[in-house]
Amino acid sequence: MASARAFGKLILIGEHAVVYGCPAIAAGIDKGARAWAKRSEHISRLSLGVSQVTADDESETARAFVALLERLYEATHERTALEVDVTLDLPPGVGLGASAAIAVAIARAACDAVRVQPESQLILEAANAWESVFHGNPSGIDVAAAMAQQPIWFVKGSAPTPLPCAAPLCLAVALAGPPAATHRMVSKVRELHDQHPPEFRQAIDRIGDLAARARQALACSELVELGRCFNENQRELQALGVSTPDLEGACDVARAAGALGAKLTGAGGGGAVIALCDSSAERVLEAWSSRGIQAFAAQVGANPSPQTPEAS
Ligand code: PMV
Repeated sequence: MASARAFGKLILIGEHAVVYGCPAIAAGIDKGARAWAKRSEHISRLSLGVSQVTADDESETARAFVALLERLYEATHERTALEVDVTLDLPPGVGLGASAAIAVAIARAACDAVRVQPESQLILEAANAWESVFHGNPSGIDVAAAMAQQPIWFVKGSAPTPLPCAAPLCLAVALAGPPAATHRMVSKVRELHDQHPPEFRQAIDRIGDLAARARQALACSELVELGRCFNENQRELQALGVSTPDLEGACDVARAAGALGAKLTGAGGGGAVIALCDSSAERVLEAWSSRGIQAFAAQVGANPSPQTPEAS
């Protein structure tokens, strides 16, 4: 049976602003999704943990699965039914890119099952077809990060650029709030855009400037400056209305425990917070744990592990 992996992701700087054309920085993390695919005599079926859908269901997941398969059929000129199983070692709906990781893993495994070259562009398009069913008009940053282990510089509509990172970043990741729907948070920000266009544009441009500063800081390993960028980005996200008391609280706890900077990651409204740590995430993880906040450490920009996401 064909098998493939894909990464979850962290957005280091620039969520929401990326929807309006500003640059953002994201990176894949070791946790993600694994998919197994094989040809089937029956209708295509997808098992995701305990839930299962077939291609004729009307659920969102089934429609996303069909959209992904349709893109592959266009490339293969062959409508092969597939049986696909997916496991996930990331919580879904918390801004860590679970959905994109699932989509990329399925697309890679499906290509392998039907003996089609899993070219990056095809995987990207198939995974974005899946994402569009859930998120309407996603910027594409989640899928781009799910395909790259190194940090990337991402601008909507352009190919991502791998970012040089002088040394691996040590991050702590908290599941600080309940899951939240990305499309709901994107719509909330859209309302602000429609109501206050000039102020909104200024805020978005400030976030774009932070992405440029963070890129420079990453390249030179200026962690204090990168931490400042995290904190300033968090203030902008709060002003956009996508932070919550839980997320602010988790950021404060991380900073008090020595983090150089902290911010929500992903769409907000709940979900995950990331904290940049100097050399070890331990103190921040302990501080969160003592307040009952689930968390884990993540390294970004380390050398790719021998077990690449494409490996079977
Ligand atoms: O899928 P999430 O929750 O990580 O959010 C993706 C980032 C957004 O900028 C909020 C949306 C997008 O399409 O870029």
